[in-house]
Amino acid sequence: MRAVVIEKRGAPPVLRDLPEPTARDGAVLIDVETAGLGGWDVAGAYRLGIEYPCVVRGEGVGRAEDGRRVYFGERSVAPYGALAERTLVPSDEVWDVPDDVDDATAITMGIAGTGILLPLEAAGLTRGDRLLVVGGTGTLGQLGLRLGRHLGAGTVVAAARDAAALEAVRARGLADEVVVMTGAEDDVDRMRRASGGEGFDVVIDLVYGRPFEAALKATRWGARLVTVGTLAGSVASVAAGDLLYRTHTTVGTGQRSPAERHGVWRRLLGLAREADLRVPIVVHRRLDEGSAAWAAQAASPHAKILIDVAGAPTTGPRRKDLPCPRTPPPSP
Ligand SMILES: NC(=O)c1ccc[n+]([C@@H]2O[C@H](COP(=O)([O-])OP(=O)(O)OC[C@H]3O[C@@H](n4cnc5c(N)ncnc54)[C@H](OP(=O)(O)O)[C@@H]3O)[C@@H](O)[C@H]2O)c1
Repeated sequence: MRAVVIEKRGAPPVLRDLPEPTARDGAVLIDVETAGLGGWDVAGAYRLGIEYPCVVRGEGVGRAEDGRRVYFGERSVAPYGALAERTLVPSDEVWDVPDDVDDATAITMGIAGTGILLPLEAAGLTRGDRLLVVGGTGTLGQLGLRLGRHLGAGTVVAAARDAAALEAVRARGLADEVVVMTGAEDDVDRMRRASGGEGFDVVIDLVYGRPFEAALKATRWGARLVTVGTLAGSVASVAAGDLLYRTHTTVGTGQRSPAERHGVWRRLLGLAREADLRVPIVVHRRLDEGSAAWAAQAASPHAKILIDVAGAPTTGPRRKDLPCPRTPPPSP
C-alpha cells in the first residue's frame, strides 16, 4: 500500500510503498478515506519513544472490514497511521460515525475538539468570564473561542503572532478583540487592555513559553490558566508573585481513557451543530499531497488540514454536508 512515511527522526515525511497491516485480535483494519493533520502530529512526530520508519499518525475516517464507517484517532498500532491507504487501530479507539456527520466534522471534533473542550471545562469557565485563547487562530484556538462563547464567556479574546489571521478570526465573529503578540514587553499591556482593563478570568494557552508568561501577567486574581500545547517552548519563567491567587494546570486529553474520549467526542458531534463549531478547512487531494499537507501544517495554516486519501470527488454525496469552507491548498 502507499503511505506517507517518516524514515528517521527529524526527516520530513515521504510517500512510499509499505507492507499492508494484517488483522490481529483487539484491533480493526481500516481503509482510510479522509485523514486529518493537526499541531500535535508535527510537534510530536520526533519525540522520544517513537520508532522509525513510521507512517504519519494523524487521525481519520474510513471503512472497517465489516463495512462500518468509523473515526479513528492518533492511536494506530505502530508503525501505522492515518496517512496511508490502510491502517490498524485498537478496537476501543475505533468509533462509529453517525450517517448525518461528515468526515470533516468527525475529524475536527476528534483530537482538536476533545483537546479544547476538556481544558475549557477544567478551567471552570462560567458565565461572564473574560476568556483569552493564546494560539487563537489555529484549529483548537478557533474551536476554543467558539466554545468559550457558547459556554457563556463574556469577553472573548484571541492572541497569536499573525495579524492577518487574527483579523480573519475577528471578522468571522469568533473574537471580540485580538492581540498580535510580538514578544515585546507591551504584549502584557495590550492583552490587559483587550480584557477591558481588569485582566482575564480564564486563559487557554496552546503555546506556553514567552506568550504564556505575558498572558499570566494579564490575568486578574482568581484566574484559571490551562496549558494545552507547547508550540512556543516547553519552558516558561514564572514569578511566584504573578501566580498569586491564580491557578495554573495542564491538560493532556490523550491521557484520558478511550471510553472517556469517546463520550466527549459524541458530545461534540452534537455541539458542532448547536454551537456552530466551524473552522476553515484545506483539503489536499490524495496521498500524493501528504508531504505538502505536512509542510502546510508545519507552517501554521490557521485551518484544519485534511487529506482526501480515497481521492473521492469534491462534490460527491459523501461530502455534501461539509460544514466548513473547503479551499484547495495554496499553490507552492
Ligand atoms: N493536550 C492535548 O490533549 C492536545 C490535543 C490537541 C492538540 N494539542 C496541542 O495544541 C496546540 C495547538 O494545536 P492546533 O492543532 O490547534 O495547532 P495549529 O492549528 O497549528 O495552531 C497553532 C496556533 O498557535 C500559534 N502559534 C504557533 N507557534 C507559535 C509561537 N511560537 N508563538 C506564538 N503562537 C504560536 C499559531 O498562530 P501564529 O500562526 O500566529 O503563530 C496558531 O494560532 C499544539 O501544541 C498541539 O500539540 C494538545
